[in-house]
Amino acid sequence: MLDRFLVDAGRLPGPVLVTGAGGCIGSWVIATLVRSGVPVAAFDLTEDTRRPRLLLSDAELAHVRWMTGDIADTAAVRQAAERCGARAIIHLAALQVPFCKADPVAGARANVVGTVNVFEAARALGITRIAYASSVAAYGALEDGGAMPTLYGAYKYCDEQIAKVYSVDWGIHSLGIRPGVVYGVGRDQGLTSKTTTAILAAAAGRPYDVPFSGPVSWLYTGEVAAAFIAAVAQERSGSPVFDMNGVYAPVEDGIAILRSIAPDTALSVSGEALAFPMDRSDLPLHDYVGGYPRVSLEEGITWAYTSFRSLLDRGLVKADSV
Ligand SMILES: NC(=O)c1ccc[n+]([C@@H]2O[C@H](COP(=O)([O-])OP(=O)(O)OC[C@H]3O[C@@H](n4cnc5c(N)ncnc54)[C@H](O)[C@@H]3O)[C@@H](O)[C@H]2O)c1
Repeated sequence: MLDRFLVDAGRLPGPVLVTGAGGCIGSWVIATLVRSGVPVAAFDLTEDTRRPRLLLSDAELAHVRWMTGDIADTAAVRQAAERCGARAIIHLAALQVPFCKADPVAGARANVVGTVNVFEAARALGITRIAYASSVAAYGALEDGGAMPTLYGAYKYCDEQIAKVYSVDWGIHSLGIRPGVVYGVGRDQGLTSKTTTAILAAAAGRPYDVPFSGPVSWLYTGEVAAAFIAAVAQERSGSPVFDMNGVYAPVEDGIAILRSIAPDTALSVSGEALAFPMDRSDLPLHDYVGGYPRVSLEEGITWAYTSFRSLLDRGLVKADSV
């Protein structure tokens, strides 16, 4: 699952601190770093390593220095970065769209204060490589951005503005990525996780209806993780933010690929298209960071399907989670 995405450990000058490491993208980032031989530290609310364990053995996971704390806790974030001697930070900790809607204050604390805390830790400790996750949902915060406004998108747009000020005022430079719809092993929550649920359903032989239709971003987990790692694989300047959508293709195309792999499973698509601008090119990001492995729709869906089959067989993923 990971071999395609490994990096030259020599490109990283020391430990990489990954916030939100227990999440979907975080799991792929730490797994890729561990397999590549890069020292890695994790920061997350809990010690729940359920998702990283889908990608790494217990022995491999033992290489990760796991630290728990709230990203909204200024001292905890700084201490974590200090304790592990972080030379780079990949900041992914956040609450997704439905969770921000359910608890706007918790969303603002995690998604906005948390980002300030990461930049403050970098400023205090002289950490010069920072990559962070914005989102395609940030377009909802722009006039005529072509996306539905959400609190989550407003917080992510605010993060981009925070990054800009840290770069201008204090020379704390960063790179922001606006992922579209990430799919693959570990993508089990959030508004747009349903394309992954369809792949899991096909692997489990269960019927499933994807509740949105039309063209979407298909961004493979390993590819987005590789981009975040490439972002911190050299010193950057300024605070550029890039779109990242992977393959732009209808939900129906992905389901057609799944039907060819698992013809006996009843898969369908219904509902409206998602109101996010997911057709923006990845090339500016790809060029800027000096490249990372890209994944076709056929490859990504086939890899995710094969991985889910294996994880189901080993009891690491449950069929009733569909
Ligand atoms: N998955 C996508 O399609 C997608 C798309 C656009 C942007 N993003 C962004 O990428 C990042 C990673 O997304 P993901 O899919 O891995 O999300 P996820 O929900 O799977 O993981 C988020 C992680 O952050 C942690 N976290 C939440 N609140 C925290 C807090 N207060 N303190 C410490 N840790 C906390 C959670 O425990 C979890 O492990 C997020 O910033 C997300 O907004 C994801």
